[in-house]
Amino acid sequence: MEGKASLLDNMIGVGDMVLLEPLSEDSFLENLKKRFDHNEIYTYIGSVVISMNPYRSLPIYTPEKVEEYRNRNFYELSPHIYALADEAYRSLRDQDKDQCILITGESGAGKTEASKLVMSYVAAVCGKGQEVNKVKEQLLQSNPVLEAFGNAKTVRNDNSSRFGKYMDIEFDFKGDPLGGVISNYLLEKSRVVKQPRGERNFHVFYQLLSGASDETLKKLKLDRDVSKYNYLCLDSASVSGVDDAANFRTVRNAMQIVGFMEDEVQSVLQLVAAVLKLGNIEFKPESRSNGLDESRVKDKNDLKEMCELLGIEQSVLERAFSYRTVEAKSEKVSTTLNVAQAYYARDALAKNLYSRLFSWLVTRINGSIKAQAKTRHKVMGVLDIYGFEIFEDNSFEQFIINYCNEKLQQIFIELTLREEQEEYIREGIEWTNIEYFNNAVICDLMENNQNGILAMLDEECLRPGTVTDETFLDKLNTICAEHQHFESRLSKNSKFLTDHSLPHNCFRIQHYAGKVLYRVEGFVDKNNDLLYRDLSQAMYKANHNLIKQLFPEGSPAKINLKRPPTAGFQFKASVGTLMRNLQTKNPNYIRCIKPNDKKASHIFTESLVCHQVRYLGLMENVRVRRAGYAFRQAYEPCLERYKMLCKKTWPHWKGPARQGVEVLMADLKVPAEEYSYGRSKIFIRNPRTLFFLEERRRQCLQDLAALIQKIYRGWKCRRQFLLMKKSQVVVAAWYRRYAQEKKYKKIKRATTVMQSYARGWQARKLLRQLKHQKRCEEAATTIAAYWHGTQARRELRRLKEEARRKHAVAVIWAYWQGLKVRREYRKFFRANAGKKIYNFTVQRIIQKYFLNLRKNLPSMSPIDKSWPTRPYSFLDGVHTELRRIFHLWRCKKYRSQFTEEKKAVYEEKLEASKLFKDRKALYPSSVSQSFKGDYLEINKNPKYQKLHSAVDEKVLLADTISKINRANGKGTPRIFLLTKKSVVLADQKTGQVKASVPLLDLASVSVSKQSDGFFALKLKEGSASAVKGDFLLSSERLIEIITKLYRLSAANAERVPLSVDISDEFLVQFKTDKVCVKFIQGSPRNGNSASCKRKNNRLLEVSVPSTP
Ligand SMILES: Nc1ncnc2c1ncn2[C@@H]1O[C@H](COP(=O)(O)OP(=O)(O)O)[C@@H](O)[C@H]1O
Ligand SMILES: [Mg+2]
Repeated sequence: MEGKASLLDNMIGVGDMVLLEPLSEDSFLENLKKRFDHNEIYTYIGSVVISMNPYRSLPIYTPEKVEEYRNRNFYELSPHIYALADEAYRSLRDQDKDQCILITGESGAGKTEASKLVMSYVAAVCGKGQEVNKVKEQLLQSNPVLEAFGNAKTVRNDNSSRFGKYMDIEFDFKGDPLGGVISNYLLEKSRVVKQPRGERNFHVFYQLLSGASDETLKKLKLDRDVSKYNYLCLDSASVSGVDDAANFRTVRNAMQIVGFMEDEVQSVLQLVAAVLKLGNIEFKPESRSNGLDESRVKDKNDLKEMCELLGIEQSVLERAFSYRTVEAKSEKVSTTLNVAQAYYARDALAKNLYSRLFSWLVTRINGSIKAQAKTRHKVMGVLDIYGFEIFEDNSFEQFIINYCNEKLQQIFIELTLREEQEEYIREGIEWTNIEYFNNAVICDLMENNQNGILAMLDEECLRPGTVTDETFLDKLNTICAEHQHFESRLSKNSKFLTDHSLPHNCFRIQHYAGKVLYRVEGFVDKNNDLLYRDLSQAMYKANHNLIKQLFPEGSPAKINLKRPPTAGFQFKASVGTLMRNLQTKNPNYIRCIKPNDKKASHIFTESLVCHQVRYLGLMENVRVRRAGYAFRQAYEPCLERYKMLCKKTWPHWKGPARQGVEVLMADLKVPAEEYSYGRSKIFIRNPRTLFFLEERRRQCLQDLAALIQKIYRGWKCRRQFLLMKKSQVVVAAWYRRYAQEKKYKKIKRATTVMQSYARGWQARKLLRQLKHQKRCEEAATTIAAYWHGTQARRELRRLKEEARRKHAVAVIWAYWQGLKVRREYRKFFRANAGKKIYNFTVQRIIQKYFLNLRKNLPSMSPIDKSWPTRPYSFLDGVHTELRRIFHLWRCKKYRSQFTEEKKAVYEEKLEASKLFKDRKALYPSSVSQSFKGDYLEINKNPKYQKLHSAVDEKVLLADTISKINRANGKGTPRIFLLTKKSVVLADQKTGQVKASVPLLDLASVSVSKQSDGFFALKLKEGSASAVKGDFLLSSERLIEIITKLYRLSAANAERVPLSVDISDEFLVQFKTDKVCVKFIQGSPRNGNSASCKRKNNRLLEVSVPSTP
């Protein structure tokens, strides 16, 4: 497929009219029809695209199609608008040539659609990215907004553009869109106030009424019912296949994307609503005294609502509809308006309001889509301008539109036909002249500055005196009468005097596309485009930003008595600018043809198409193409482009470029008739030749690319290889080192093992030898030892035997001697010997006993009870006596260490033992206590200073005790002091003496047998102390206290010692009562201390916890 694809493949009819054979108008139409019937709506004439409106959607605009045409040669695929768009885009991007796409054709031929297709294609193939996509989206979305406000349904087209649009899309060097600029040309504003039968006002009115929410409508003071508005024609309020409500949403959305602020959108809608309201304002005549009628607003409600919408003071606007102020030479003259003038003023205001709003929209959109970057950019202009219009009733607008189309045709002719022919002549190429109709003469008729129709219209408008459309026509009749394209009934040219198809108030122009009859009515007015100053001033006073902006001339600061330029003048100027702009760009043509007048698919009305083909000059176009050369290029770029196709020119050609091209063509063996050498360019007759060159170039480029790739890859691989090799060496070195090290370690380990085995084996062998040797040595020794042993024993035995024998001899001898001695001395020794032996034996035993005893004596502690056992029973007495003596001696030794005080203590203890041992259960616990006496350290403690001084005697005992209350048996702490002479009870806290009892007054002391500390000090009857009665006290140191008391009384030789009664029940004297103190065993749970309770006046019970 690659390379072979061509528009010639699978062709229906002929894809390029240049290839049509034979070439005639019939065959041309037939080819168009054939292709149209097969849904081939595009056909080429060289690089011009003819587009037939299919009036239905065809599946040829899919993304797949876009891909198919992307970056392909123009003639490679079947004709398509995408091929043209791609060609234009690529030459813009790659060859840096500004492009313009000129779309021409009648109204409804598909120009606007074509322009959208071109834009969407470019958007699809150009760069991507967030920013670029945003730009694209804004550029594309500007369309719906402009269409809503500038398009309307006409009899020819349901979506007819009522304004001319030229859009420059700007690209950066990469071909990414940067932004755009839209220029608009002459909106057909008369449509705002009046529409021909079967046509509608601009879309936006219907869209607003059917698409806006109830809330919005309420805000805009509008009613959804279209029939309520005078400016909206009733008979075709809705168009089949058009959903106004949905379109309204699309437009709102598009406005948002383009960048309109919400308040701007609201302002725009308010203006639209205001135009509708304006249409509903009606006037009635009011007679004036001077006999003239003056207009008055009929129903002020609409006026009021409109004024509210735009923030205009109602009275100001109302006055502007009734009066007109004319200023002349600093004089102000106010004249009244009649009803017709008031309606004229109203409509003029509506038209102006709307057309200015439209221009503002374009400016606003431009503000949004304008390219941000200031860098140099390339431009692609897309021109979608209203097509040639021939209506039944043609007016100023049609005149203007057709003028524009004449100009476009002119530029087409200039750029394609004339330019081409002239170029051939310039380049010295042999050329047969082709006749074609040059419409420059018509353009001249219309725009000539001296006697052109537009110039005369302007002149008429500016002329003082009464000016009417008729005076204008008269002027035309006199000045243009001779012009061959101008026809008028009243012209001097008698030819038309009897032409009844030409009414008196009309003139006719033979346009390049046909004759058009223009009715002069309204020409002057429309050209003047007059808006009473009172109205513009009223508008300027509005409290509405947008309105104020739209009527700057209403500003009192800007009063300008000069007339504004006429509509015709402005239009001519803008068309002039447009033409100059287009001439600087590389043109691409799309020529739209409409196949029928019914907006119907599948219908091909031959006469209609034939007419269009003729006036579009398509046949001439083909002829010029066929006669000429399809392609031309200056020698330098041509050589630059194709020099790689020939060895002689590649890579550098030294000589002139032309020679290089010649060498190249000769080398490529291109047939000579296929090309011609011009002065500065080579002309290639057939596109095929060009394709051939391109194809070769493509292949060659591929080869070159392959070569570059090859070298680069080789270099890259080599570099990679060298790097890897270097790395490999390093890696290998490291690895070898590692491996060798590992191997070495392994061998070393093995060697060590083997060594150890060998050494072990050797050592064991040696050990065995040594052991054997040792054993041998030992065996000798053993044997020797045994031998010596045996010998020694034998010797011993012999010696023993000898000794025994000697002994036996001695014994026997001794016995014998003894026997002999005894026999001799028996009569002298027998009586004393036994006693002596006995005594000796006993002495010996006793000596041994004593020595033993001395060795085993017990310790010196008096309480040590141990004593050695006696060895013989006959020593029993001695043994016991010795034990006693030893103990006494030991005790004496022990006592001799005591000091005097310690001795006193022990004496006291002894006394206590005598008194209480085995008599009172408290006693055992007192044995271990040392009787310290002064527990309170009364003489040292400063607290008791006073007390100490109160007692003049030496204190023997001081302690805190509990004094039992005689009345209730409860205890109170008291300081208890004992001196040699008295017992003192003092307050524990204050140290104040409470009672002092001389010891002489004490009769006895009573205590219980239990472990409690209660004791009663009984006083002698009649003594001074006995007034209150006996004391019942309790102390833990009871044993010490009583012992001390006892010893004091015992020490006094004049007294009988104090009697100590120990009993569980005793009587005490409390004042006058004798009370029995009874001790009972309480349960242990009461705690350890005994509790005392006065039961009655006879009994005081002390409960002592049982000792467990
Ligand atoms: N390529 C196309 N494919 C399908 N329908 C088309 C195409 N071109 C035009 N049309 C139809 O024709 C109508 C008029 O086209 P439009 O571009 O508005 O005409 P013009 O701008 O020339 O007046 C469009 O609304 C559409 O319905
Ligand atoms: Mg259009």
